[in-house]
Amino acid sequence: PDDLRELSRTLRVHIGSAVDATALAGEADYRRVLNQEFNHVTAENAMKWETVEPQRGAYDWEAADAVVENARRNRQQVRGHTLVWHNQLPAWLIEGVDSGAIDAKELRKILRSHIMTEVGRYRGKIRAWDVVNEVVDDTGKLRDSIWLKHLGPGYIADAFRWAHQADPRARLYINDYNLEWDAKKIETTLGIVKDLKAKRVPIHGIGFQGHLGIQYDYPGDFAGVMRRFTDLGLEAAITEADVRMVMPATAEKLATQADYYQRMLSTCVANKRCVEFTVWGFTDRHSWVPDWFEGEGAANIMDENLAHKPAYDALLAVRRK
Ligand code: G3I
Repeated sequence: PDDLRELSRTLRVHIGSAVDATALAGEADYRRVLNQEFNHVTAENAMKWETVEPQRGAYDWEAADAVVENARRNRQQVRGHTLVWHNQLPAWLIEGVDSGAIDAKELRKILRSHIMTEVGRYRGKIRAWDVVNEVVDDTGKLRDSIWLKHLGPGYIADAFRWAHQADPRARLYINDYNLEWDAKKIETTLGIVKDLKAKRVPIHGIGFQGHLGIQYDYPGDFAGVMRRFTDLGLEAAITEADVRMVMPATAEKLATQADYYQRMLSTCVANKRCVEFTVWGFTDRHSWVPDWFEGEGAANIMDENLAHKPAYDALLAVRRK
């Protein structure tokens, strides 16, 4: 294969990238490479609640529509990201809940309407939705979000049922970070999935975000963890892959990074039910990493000038066994 689209065809795994909507609108080289290399996309921020409903009842779909329309024109499938999360919620919602102006009954209605409105708007255009994102915390408990606090644990099943009503053909996912290796999070998430399945709640997929760093060992059990979820009948996706490093980058670090990317894609390819490998941005020009981890960066498969890094070539070398 000469590029990632060709690789995707030989591997029979969708290969995607997160899309920075501002770069998509303003940078011709970014747009060209995105559309040439990827057959799947996820809006990095454009579909999040704070973006689409900045004021209560006043929607702004401009950026989300642009990502979806660009995908249609370039034959890219779309992962919707994300419906229920504890981050990037609109200020009016947080303030309303904190002040008591929005009570639990109203909050449940607001969540239902958010899901029905957003999923309904893109009905038939989204292959898969991250319905709930990061609902388990780092101690393995259900995250103490406004959703859990005010609606109780039943909000998870409700969210899947509402999303399914709004777009019966979309694949509905639970998505999380550190799920490649964190034993507590893995067990709790398996429990959630089993409980939803027992209740006949429409859940179809497990998303492993895949945010790794080369200063940590590669999560060697990842393939086995993925197997435990797909054995429950779920499809799987690696939804936000990136591999950060302590700066400056060196040839040795870039080689380790390439190996980590290759192993993640290989893990997906080796599991029949793993259908998608998505990177959280494809260029170091646009990355969340330097803003979040002081002194770290260079997490993507192309550099700031969109030149291929060793990680890009390592992905191209992956084959089905
Ligand atoms: O839009 C404002 C802009 O107006 C302002 O000038 C600028 C100044 O800081 O901030 C802009 O908002 C930023 C936004 O990204 C858009 O660039 C926020 O501050 C910043 O916090 C936000 O970060 C995003 C982060 O989620 C927030 O939760 C990252 O881009 C995005 O990559 C990241 O993605 C998450 C996934 O959704 C879920 N999994 C983890 C992943 C990485 O954190």
